Amino acid sequence: MSDANQYGYRAFQLGGFRFTRDEYFVHIAWPGGSHTMPADAFLRALIRDVAWNFFYGIVNFDSVFGTVNHYGTVDVFAGLYNAGYREKNKQHVENINGDEVRERFSEILADWTNEDFDPFAAPEETGTPFGSKHGSNPKAINRKRLVASRMTGMKGDTPLRSDAAGNPVNRQFKDIPQDEPEVHAEPGFETEVHAYNFFAYVSRSDVTWNPSVCAAVKDSLICATTEEFMLPVIHGNDRVEWFVQLSDEIHWDIQDRDSGAPRARAVMKAGDVAAMPADIRHQGYSPKRSLLLVWENGDPTLPEKYASGKLKSNPVDF
Ligand SMILES: [Fe+2]
Repeated sequence: MSDANQYGYRAFQLGGFRFTRDEYFVHIAWPGGSHTMPADAFLRALIRDVAWNFFYGIVNFDSVFGTVNHYGTVDVFAGLYNAGYREKNKQHVENINGDEVRERFSEILADWTNEDFDPFAAPEETGTPFGSKHGSNPKAINRKRLVASRMTGMKGDTPLRSDAAGNPVNRQFKDIPQDEPEVHAEPGFETEVHAYNFFAYVSRSDVTWNPSVCAAVKDSLICATTEEFMLPVIHGNDRVEWFVQLSDEIHWDIQDRDSGAPRARAVMKAGDVAAMPADIRHQGYSPKRSLLLVWENGDPTLPEKYASGKLKSNPVDF
């Protein structure tokens, strides 16, 4: 491509932010500052920010760069949630239309992801993101979202995952039983009653750290996800987030959301339940692939209620 640099990668502009990459690093520059990130960490964070449509609250790519979701517009920032930058008033933030941010981020992702790298995969299951530009990987970065109209596996609905459909059980979930429950419906209710082995379904997911909504009842969103290696973003909550560790274990570093000051460490083992407060940021480490259930309250009035102190940041006192 004509505007590519010597390594074959294009440069991108978003508002006052300029993004370039070389063989190992991504360089971000803005009026008054600049920042460098390893290309693998940047691409793993970027694909999730795009796929999650900026998620709830803050997606910190690292301790300097990230986005804040205002559900329509997005703050793209450098140093906004970094105590050192704030102390010297060196933070930079631009409020930009969400569609524009997502579009530019998608272009960066498409140009900078090489053919053998899948940013959603665990490091053991993908090739290297480094080196000069070689090919692209549209299959990995444009995964199709599966939407069930009633429930996965019902007649005429999204099918269950299977070997035949190209969803093998992940190498680290070989111990998860794959048998399906027996359903004995009363005559006339055969199309109304349904059940499937949820652990088996999730054990066939080929992505990591990517919560998918598996049950939505009004604002109650239950999300299942498979985790391996580390959460590629440091998520800053704008509401309480419940975790149910379904298998294996995840180690969480929990920090003050705004300054990044350490607040707690939590080692969650199978069966553990945690309510992550609304005023923290956290990053998880999963030594072996594990199953995590995340429960989010999608009520759009919550961020304001927590910000104004109408709601306490922790839902339970012990
Ligand atoms: Fe979170």
